[in-house]
Formats: sequence, C-alpha cells, structure tokens
Amino acid sequence: MNYAIILAAGKGSRMKTELPKCAVELFKKPMVEYIVDALERTEIDKRICVVGHKSEVIVNILKDRVEYAYQIEQLGTADAVKSAIGLIKGEGYSLILPGDTPLIDEEIIDNITRFHKESKNDISIATAYLDKPKGFGRIIRDGSGNVVSIVEEIEANKIEKEIKEINTGIYCIENKMLIETLDKIKCDNNKGEYYLTDIIKLLASQVKIGTYLIKDVYKVSGINDLYALSKVEESLRNVINKKHMQNGVEIINPETVTISPDVIIDKGVIIYPGSLLMGKSVIGENSIIGPNTELYNAVIEENVVCRHSVIYDSRIKKGASVGPFTHLRMNSIVGENNRIGNFVELKKSTLGYKTNVAHLTYIGDTTCGDEVNFGCGTVTVNYDGKNKFKTNIGNRVFIGCNSNLIAPLNIGSDVYIAAGSTINQDLIDEDFAIARVRQIVKHNYANKYGYKKSKL
Ligand code: UD1
Ligand code: MG
Repeated sequence: MNYAIILAAGKGSRMKTELPKCAVELFKKPMVEYIVDALERTEIDKRICVVGHKSEVIVNILKDRVEYAYQIEQLGTADAVKSAIGLIKGEGYSLILPGDTPLIDEEIIDNITRFHKESKNDISIATAYLDKPKGFGRIIRDGSGNVVSIVEEIEANKIEKEIKEINTGIYCIENKMLIETLDKIKCDNNKGEYYLTDIIKLLASQVKIGTYLIKDVYKVSGINDLYALSKVEESLRNVINKKHMQNGVEIINPETVTISPDVIIDKGVIIYPGSLLMGKSVIGENSIIGPNTELYNAVIEENVVCRHSVIYDSRIKKGASVGPFTHLRMNSIVGENNRIGNFVELKKSTLGYKTNVAHLTYIGDTTCGDEVNFGCGTVTVNYDGKNKFKTNIGNRVFIGCNSNLIAPLNIGSDVYIAAGSTINQDLIDEDFAIARVRQIVKHNYANKYGYKKSKL
C-alpha cells in the first residue's frame, strides 16, 4: 500500500499568526487544502495528515478527506512521521509532504512516485536549486555525486551554506525502512529536534537513494513566514495571469490582479486593476470585471459588467450590469440584463429578467420576477429581531422610492407601489398601494413658525 503523509502539526513560530501554519491561506485557501486537492488527483492509496498544534483547525478544514495521526508534542519532523507509522502497513512506499509547501501539484507528485518506482530506489528525495537557499536543508554529496546527508541551515558550516541544492522536504521512502529507521534518529542537534533529514545520514551507505530535481522552484518552496508566503503568491500570480492572458483574457496592470488556481475565465474577458478572483469563480466570454472587484465562488455569465463590487457565492446572468459598489452574497442570482447599481445589497435573493435595482437598496430572502423596478432606497424588511421572513414579488412591479416591504410578503404582478410606502399586507395582481402619512400644507406658515433664512 502506498501512503501520503502530510506533516501539519507544527505551530509555525516564524509565521507569527494565530492560525497553525498549515491553515494559513494562500489566495483564500488554506495551504494544507491545496496539498489534499492535489493528492486526490493522484493514485496514492491512503492520505494521512499529522496534526498537533491546534489540530481542530486542520481537522475542520480537511474533514474526512484524510486519516489523522496526532503528534502530541512538536519534537521535529521525524517525530511527526513517527506518530503516523501506526497507520502504515506492509510493502510499498510513503510519500512524505510538508504541509507548508502548498503548490506541490499532482504532476510533481506523479513524477516523483514514478521516478521512485522506476529507479527502484529505497529513498527518493525531491531537490531544487535556489539562488538564495537560506533556511533550507542542503543536499550533501560525496565525490561521486551520491547523496550522503542533508544538513539543516542551523547545523551547516560555511562551505555547506554555499550549496544551492536544497531539500524540498518531499520524499518517497519504502515503508519498512521508514518504520525501522525512525527510532534511530536522535535529537542531538542545535534545535534539540528529531530531524527527518537525518534518515539519509543513517542509511546512505546501505540503501539506494535517488534525487529528483524540481525545476518549478516556487512550487516546492516551503513557506515559513509571511514574507515567504507573499513571494510564493507573487510567483503563482504571475504564472496564473500569464496563462489567462495567453488564453485571450486582457488583464490591465496584472501585478494588481490576483486570480486563484481554480478560477475559470473565458476569452474576451477584461479584468481591470485591483481585482481579486477567488474560490471556484467562473467568468463568461466578453465580461468586464473591475476595477477593484472581489469575487469568491461567483458565476459570471457572458457580457456582464461588474465594477467596484463584492460578489460571494452568487451568480450574475448574461448581459447584466452590476456596480459600482454592489454586494451580492449567499446564493443570490442577478437576472439576465438586470441593472444593479450603487450601494445595493442582495442576500439569498433571486431577480428575474430585466429587473432594475439602480441605487441604495437592500433585498434579502426575496424571489422577484421580470421587469421589476426597485426605486432608490427600497428595503425588504426581512428580520424582526428574531426570525427571517421571505418576500415574493411578481413581474412588472413598480416599487416607488424609499419603500419598506415588510416580510413575510407576497406581491403579485403589475402592481404599483407609491413612493415612501411601508407595505405589510399582501398585494394581488394589478393592485395600487400607497401607505404613507397624508401631506399637510400650511401656506405662509414658515415665517410664523420662526423659519428665517438669511438672504444673500
Ligand atoms: C524542513 C526540512 C528542511 C527542508 C524544508 C523544506 C527538516 C528537519 N528540515 O525544514 O531540510 O529544506 O523543510 O521546506 O525536516 N512539523 C510537524 N511536527 C513537528 C515539526 C514540523 O508536523 O514537530 C511540520 C510543520 O508543520 C511543517 C513541516 O513539518 O508543515 C516542516 O516543518 P518546518 O518547521 O517548516 O521545517 P523547515 O524548517 O521548513
Ligand atoms: Mg518549512
């Protein structure tokens, strides 16, 4: 049986975050989730995640997508692997992955495991060349080029520090050998930790060790602090943006636009500066996004314009125009050819075809039909302080400015609601409703009332 062991028990002291290191997000997705996503696309039989510091946070992210091994005290990477060996049985190999190296993809994993099997290695180490190798373990080779050990930065002498070939922390090790050797690793080093890397020194003279060189260095750069996180993000941003631009997506000032790996964008789309396209967002042909727009799990159909807006878990149908300053959330749907304007919020609401909500409006828990006009300042009053209630609106309804629609409420089609109305009774087709205090006018009374405006 072949296993993947993800090491994610560490606190990440250098990260200086509340979250355990492997839960820190890269493009709004926890680091460790990237690794499990990649592993699920490979043929590894079993996925094990070693958790320890704030284990509940990692468990909450990965749920039942992995089996868990608990490392009680964070005594080093060898100790972390040791806590997982109860779950490892029989022939085969274990692929060990650090949980702070999120961009290891399925291609790299498949290449390493294939290399391990085809070369019939006992241990395969993924290495990379870095111009600035500081902080990483260095690969030490003898005169014939064979790997003899891995030396950690903190243990390295001046000459070893010059070595640019680093240990990525990704290895394939035969199960039996792994189980037998872990107990032999000692913690007599500068950190007082059990280094997994010491396994090489212990076995180098007896077993077959191979190295697999990884060229896309940013994919295997372990992230130990927030600066390193920003550098990996920068590399990923450039790679993703380049791919989209080469596919016919126009990105203006691409260094200010961040698109996460799972986002799908059709050709002809234009993305203006300062935009974040996150989660599993999809953008249809010829749509315009931004400037300064945040999408998360948003489905934007074709020919949509969406400027200066925040769209979470919602859909904008084709031909609609959204923003500036629109907020859509919780499975809201903006209908075809809608015009949604400034300071409009939609929560759990659906709008039909050619409906307009041009300004300053809150629509919550509402289903609305076609060609409805929401006047400026309309509010669906969906919450009484205890419970939430629904509003249903038919087709071709005219809602005058500054109307309150107190839910639960059903409004038929072809209804006209006069401006300033507070509606709390259902309306049927073709009703006209006005619900506001009648106006009182007193001629020549302003003076008597004591109002005097200084004349220019
Ligand atoms: C480690 C390697 C180093 C390599 C680098 C690559 C060792 C001793 N060093 O260093 O050679 O160049 O990764 O990124 O292995 N962890 C636990 N339990 C522990 C300690 C760590 O689960 O007791 C986890 C951490 O959460 C982390 C991973 O193991 O995800 C690696 O630990 P980290 O402290 O980041 O090791 P590095 O110093 O980066
Ligand atoms: Mg690390």
